[in-house]
Amino acid sequence: MSETGDRDGGAQPCRRQFLCVLGAAAGALALGSEGCGGPSTAPFTAGNAADHPVGTFRMFSGNGTIIGRDAAGFYAYSTSCTHQGVAIDFSSGTSCSTVAGCSSQSTTGTTTCAAHGSRFDGTGAVIQGPARTALEHFKLTIVGGVLNVDPTAVVAAATRVAV
Ligand code: FES
Repeated sequence: MSETGDRDGGAQPCRRQFLCVLGAAAGALALGSEGCGGPSTAPFTAGNAADHPVGTFRMFSGNGTIIGRDAAGFYAYSTSCTHQGVAIDFSSGTSCSTVAGCSSQSTTGTTTCAAHGSRFDGTGAVIQGPARTALEHFKLTIVGGVLNVDPTAVVAAATRVAV
């Protein structure tokens, strides 16, 4: 039997998600995005490409996004656990205050969800459940050397943007 709000199992959304959807549908701005407790889904910039070395993962928690860079290029993926939507965090993160908006960084990209223990690797793939599906990847572009991320545009996990 699936838990209520389990995104993987296709079950019903949790009560908070339901209220957020209801509020948006009714135009009830009182709830707003803050009232729904989630990060901003608006497009944002994530600093200069030159400031993100290969093998570094940077979390922008206010935007619900992690920026990764491997040998093939840049990619962006969600910090929202695919089990029930709780925000994940790096298993071993350090400060990244030199990059505006960056909340923490990691050299492994491994993340953990404190709610029920799901773990994901640096591509967003599931290492350990109860989550069963990978984290969503978002559209990333580089304009004038600056990283731009659109968390409303989902792309294939294999998508990379070369510098
Ligand atoms: S919400 Fe359950 S493991 Fe993340």
